[in-house]
Amino acid sequence: QRPVTVPRLQTMRDAGEKIAMLTCYDASFATLLERAGVDVLLIGDSLGNVLQGHATTLPVSLDDIVYHTACVARGAQRPLIVADLPFGTYGTPEQAFASAVRLMRGGAHMVKLEGGAWLADTVRFLVERAVPVCAHIGLTPQSVHAFGGFKVQGRTLLAADALKADAEALQDAGAQLLVIEAVPATLAAELTDLLAIPTIGIGAGPECSGQVLVLHDLLGVFPGKRPRFVKDFVSGEVSIGAGIEAYVRAVKEGTFPDQEHVF
Ligand code: KIV
Ligand code: NA
Repeated sequence: QRPVTVPRLQTMRDAGEKIAMLTCYDASFATLLERAGVDVLLIGDSLGNVLQGHATTLPVSLDDIVYHTACVARGAQRPLIVADLPFGTYGTPEQAFASAVRLMRGGAHMVKLEGGAWLADTVRFLVERAVPVCAHIGLTPQSVHAFGGFKVQGRTLLAADALKADAEALQDAGAQLLVIEAVPATLAAELTDLLAIPTIGIGAGPECSGQVLVLHDLLGVFPGKRPRFVKDFVSGEVSIGAGIEAYVRAVKEGTFPDQEHVF
């Protein structure tokens, strides 16, 4: 199997082949996910919730993400490896680059950051310095206190227009992938139409170029509140590997997310 690269994601998007992405934090799962056909592994700062037991992602450090990125990179060769820039590690372009260098040296192929048009200069600064960037808009969990909770975004016309402007600014700045979290499915479809780069949805409907879930949510092992967009793919399957294969199949066939998972 040839490796998944950033240009390969664009080819998949252009051909209408859905991209299957999952979070991953260790080498054993990296191997399992690779064998199940997952295209992109995300070392998400969701590890603050599912590994560390925090209520938000804010306490996650750059060292934490570097450590887990190195673990994942040792376990998988084919998938593209994307690592989150944690809260407070990309306040300026220079700080973002210094942080991104640590993630790339740890084995990341691309870094992800949360925010809109205000990040355009930072995205451009990274891309010019050979750091591929995935942007993340909508319900960006690092902004939980700015939002006043984990709330669906882009529900009003004004908010939807702002997200469209953000998405275009990030693409123009050189972002090559866009995660869209917890927005109405119709808006995510419009964003996917508007942009040339692939979009990855989580709680954003079936029309995105691909889907992502938090691994522990797919496994059904996270004890916290289960958001609407989550589906346990493992119960009913004979093994964890079969559950992950079922997720990949559902994403590729466009049967996940279903009506019950969208806003
Ligand atoms: O940290 C994470 O797991 C994420 C995904 C949910 C997109 O950012
Ligand atoms: Na994240």
